[in-house]
Formats: sequence, C-alpha cells, structure tokens
Amino acid sequence: MSRIIERGRLRPFTGTITGADPFEEIEDGAILREDGIIVAAGPAVPLITANPDATVVPTEALLSPGLVDVHCHYPQTRITGTYGGGLLEWLETVTFPEEMKFEDPAYAAEIAREFFDRCEAVGTTDVTVFCTSHPASVDALFNEALKRTLKVTAGLVMMDRNAPSPLLTPAQEAYDDSLALIERWHGAADGRLTYAITPRFVPTSTPALLEAAAALWDEHPTCAMQTHLSESVEEVAWVRRLFSDAPDYLAVYEQFGLVGPGAIFAHAIHLSDREIASLADHKAVVAHCPTANRFLKSGTCPVRRLLDAGVTVKLGTDIGAGTTFDIMEVARVAEGVPRRPD
Ligand code: GUN
Ligand code: ZN
Repeated sequence: MSRIIERGRLRPFTGTITGADPFEEIEDGAILREDGIIVAAGPAVPLITANPDATVVPTEALLSPGLVDVHCHYPQTRITGTYGGGLLEWLETVTFPEEMKFEDPAYAAEIAREFFDRCEAVGTTDVTVFCTSHPASVDALFNEALKRTLKVTAGLVMMDRNAPSPLLTPAQEAYDDSLALIERWHGAADGRLTYAITPRFVPTSTPALLEAAAALWDEHPTCAMQTHLSESVEEVAWVRRLFSDAPDYLAVYEQFGLVGPGAIFAHAIHLSDREIASLADHKAVVAHCPTANRFLKSGTCPVRRLLDAGVTVKLGTDIGAGTTFDIMEVARVAEGVPRRPD
C-alpha cells in the first residue's frame, strides 16, 4: 500500500453557511493518502509524527475538501444563464426545448461529459442531479460517472402534465422506468452512485404521478428523493389552483408521503411557518440555490428562519437557472443569512 503525506496550506471546512468564512486556515497542513484515498487531514507535524512510515511530499497546491452541490440539472449545462423571464416562462421557452434534445442518447452522453468536466474544474466531488424524462439521459449520466470519481445522486424526471408532450410520461410508465433504473444504478460503483426518485414539481404532476413517486420511495427507502418547492409566487398560486384542498404547497407533497428524512426540496422560498415547521419535523433538506433565485428573480430563501427552526439547509448551483458551477461562488452570494450578533 502506498502512504503519502502531502504537506501544504490546508483549508478544512469547519463551519456553516451563516455569513462568516466557514473555512479554517492551517498554514502548515497535510493530508494522508493511502493508495490515493485521503484517510486523514490536519496540522502537518502531528500527522507526520503519527505516520512515520509515510512519504512526505511538499505541495504548493491549496488542500481543500471536496465540494458538495445538492441541486442541479445536467441537461441544462448548455443553457446556463440563458434569459427567459421568470421561472414558468423560462421553463417553457428555454428549458423544455433544451431537455427535448435528450431524446438523442448521443447528445445526452456529450452533455454528461461536459457537465462532469465543469464540476471537476471547480472542485465539486459530490453532486445531486436531475436528468430529463428520457431513461437514456439517466444511463448517459451514470455511465459517464463510472469513468469519474465523483459521488453522484441522480434520477429520471417524472412529469405527466403541463409540459410539452414529448417530455411527458404516464404515471405507471414513469414508475416502471424509474424502477428499472433503480435496479441498474442504485448503489453501483461500490455505493458511489445513488438513485434519486425525481418528481419534477407539483405543477407537472397529477395525483397518480405523485402516488407513483411515493410508492417507489416507500419500496426503495435508501434511494434519495428530490423535487422543487415554492420557488416563485406564480408557481405557488398555480399549485393552489391545482390542489385547492391542500392548505399550502408542502402539504401536497405531505399528502402523498413525499416529505421525509433526507428528501431534498430545492428553492423553498415562499413558505409559511407551518411549512417550515413541517420540513424540520420531517428532517427534510432544503437546497438553497441563491444564484438561480437571483437569476430568475424568484425571491429570497428564508435561510435564517429555516436554520432557526432546525431545517438542514445545503447549497445547490441549480445549473442552468443558476449562473455558475462553482459552489464557492454560490456560497458567496448565499443571501438571507444574516450573522447572529456576537
Ligand atoms: N422547477 C421545476 N423545474 C425546474 C427547473 O428545471 N429549474 C428550476 N430552477 N426550477 C424548476
Ligand atoms: Zn432545479
């Protein structure tokens, strides 16, 4: 086994996204690799003393932890930052036409390569991704992931209304397609790949589709579950019209059993106190995507209220409504997170 210590400037992540610099600075730091895998990191002297057999190699490189992006859409790589008005208009005029191109597996494979190149270029090592409603788009992403070292969580977008017909799949078919993909990919590459059950959002879902997504999650509880929640005021009003019996947006997902531990809700901007308390009670995760919220003028995620209520908040680039692949840049513009007074 090779044991190598790289010695240089280390920036371990020790904080949270609450306004202060969350990275510690260790001028004389080190990481220990065993056969290429990082097994320890910290101040250089104790690490070297504790591992006298390891070869010490000085480096000029900045040693930093891998970065995590909990929400993005790889099929939107080429439309990153393309203007199209607010959320609903942007989906219709910019996003859905691009996603329709993924009917072609060769195009999907090309964009999957481009997507991972861009993630790697900015230090992202763990990414949670929406594909399109074409099963081949999921195969393209995971097949490319096999050639890389990133941890990848991804799934087939499930939609059965309110999108162009080539992107719609009846609920039963979306269930069957997702199931086949779970069997092929969930836990593959020694657990580096995870399948995410992916109903796009309430406006593109009939009750039957949400039921199908919930059944999949119930039957495969180790899968992730990802969707969107309360991103724009027009979207929230639309959900109120579609599900007039539900007291609020999150209640629709609750009604179908889609709110639970680890479920990732992207954006989560226009929320009532009840919805925030429910996200906390269910141990759900909010993907805060400030660059996308700014680009689509969707509003400001109430991050402080979410954190105070005990909701776990993580950062997402939301490519392609987000304007950068760089999660450090996303962290810099993470809005709505006032520092607590010292
Ligand atoms: N809501 C439903 N689909 C999408 C999407 O592709 N991007 C964003 N930002 N919001 C969505
Ligand atoms: Zn999104």
